[in-house]
Amino acid sequence: MKLWGGRFTEDTNALVENYTASISFDARLAEMDIQGSIAHARMLGQCGIVTSEESQQLVVGLSSLLTDYRTGKLEFRVDDEDIHMNIERLLHERIGAVAGKLHTGRSRNDQVALDMHLYAKEAIAQAIIGVRRLQKALVHQAEKNMDVIIPGYTHLQRAQPVLLAHHLLAYFWMLERDVGRLQDAEKRADMMPLGAGALAGTTFPISREAVQEELDFSQLYENSLDAVSDRDYLLEILSATSVIMMHLSRLSEELVLWSSEEFGWIELADAYCTGSSMMPQKKNPDVPELVRGKTGRVYGHLMALLTVLKGLPLAYNKDLQEDKEGVFDTFDTLLPALELFAGLVNTVKVRTDRVSVAFSHDFSNATDLADYLATKGVPFREAHEVVGKLVLMAIAQGTNLAGLEFSVYQQASPAFAKDIYDVLSIAQVVAARGVRGGTGPQAVKYQLDLAISRLSNQ
Ligand code: ARG
Repeated sequence: MKLWGGRFTEDTNALVENYTASISFDARLAEMDIQGSIAHARMLGQCGIVTSEESQQLVVGLSSLLTDYRTGKLEFRVDDEDIHMNIERLLHERIGAVAGKLHTGRSRNDQVALDMHLYAKEAIAQAIIGVRRLQKALVHQAEKNMDVIIPGYTHLQRAQPVLLAHHLLAYFWMLERDVGRLQDAEKRADMMPLGAGALAGTTFPISREAVQEELDFSQLYENSLDAVSDRDYLLEILSATSVIMMHLSRLSEELVLWSSEEFGWIELADAYCTGSSMMPQKKNPDVPELVRGKTGRVYGHLMALLTVLKGLPLAYNKDLQEDKEGVFDTFDTLLPALELFAGLVNTVKVRTDRVSVAFSHDFSNATDLADYLATKGVPFREAHEVVGKLVLMAIAQGTNLAGLEFSVYQQASPAFAKDIYDVLSIAQVVAARGVRGGTGPQAVKYQLDLAISRLSNQ
């Protein structure tokens, strides 16, 4: 008979049993479920709701279940519906009738909420560790390549040169905000729902504070209806992780582009690439491609849960069981992606020979030439036009700005002097951008030190 079978006279239809069961995916909440139950059982004893002997029996039984779960010895059954009923049944098999006292003053509605809060706190902590590792890898490559200049782009057209370190550190700051979002979401995950019962609280003189303290929650829900039906903290997590995946996806795109023969700026380590079954020459950037591809499923989980919650009346509804798979899959997608990316970034090789020739025929120093005229008193709009014409001339001659004769410059504007060739050097173009947050080497060094101190303050 089901644990709730008292008011039923017929067996559950097999399809219904399968359709409503969640054990296939909530089995992974076993640890949290048992830990939550241990805290509840202890509290029941402390409050005299069960005897201290009974409380002790429950705690010992649950602890032995935890040990067996960790060594893979527990077997869950689909006819026990979910993880909560499975654990209770197993406890009954182990310690007999006293197991039936565990559920005093509690409902599966507040129990499942507790389990998910415990899961969320742990998963957020793991995600922060993962993001930090990737940040370290970015800092490592930035430090290693402080003197490498790459073309910077807007509209994917060559714009102005930047330090590769500057480009990599841009991702560091995106990830820094990601950590902030995760830490913020953690505050709402860190709330204890138990004691809400099914929806209205409980008649037993329980101590919610005791459970809160034992499970190390910094707050508890002040409203029982809210406690059992709130999934906002999961939405916040899905939103923060969607943004992280989006960042990884942008980085993926750059790694894929940069490792192509057309760019050729980097080479990914063999250990992080795969080959082709047909084309012997291929070394494919599968990892960034897959991360880019998997971003969509995380966005999907966010949209799915928002939709589950939309229009849902208070308090618990079975719809809420749909909160789990998407959240689990999100972390199953994100955590390995972060780990792989840390490895990928740490082991990437910069092909400095290819990066340096990137500038031989480009015009990414054109702004500096216009700025040069402007500092000599030529209005910037006029300077812009003069340089635009020089660019056209250089293109026609098959050269770049540094390749034009000085006489061409003299004809274009009397404000040009011989020192323009210094201004045009790519290193000078980069060095000139010493503004805080700019790509000049001093500014990037300042930024790098700041990034390093952020990491060491953790
Ligand atoms: N498996 C359920 C869930 O994940 C647990 C709560 C069930 N509560 C209920 N009254 N049926 O939401």
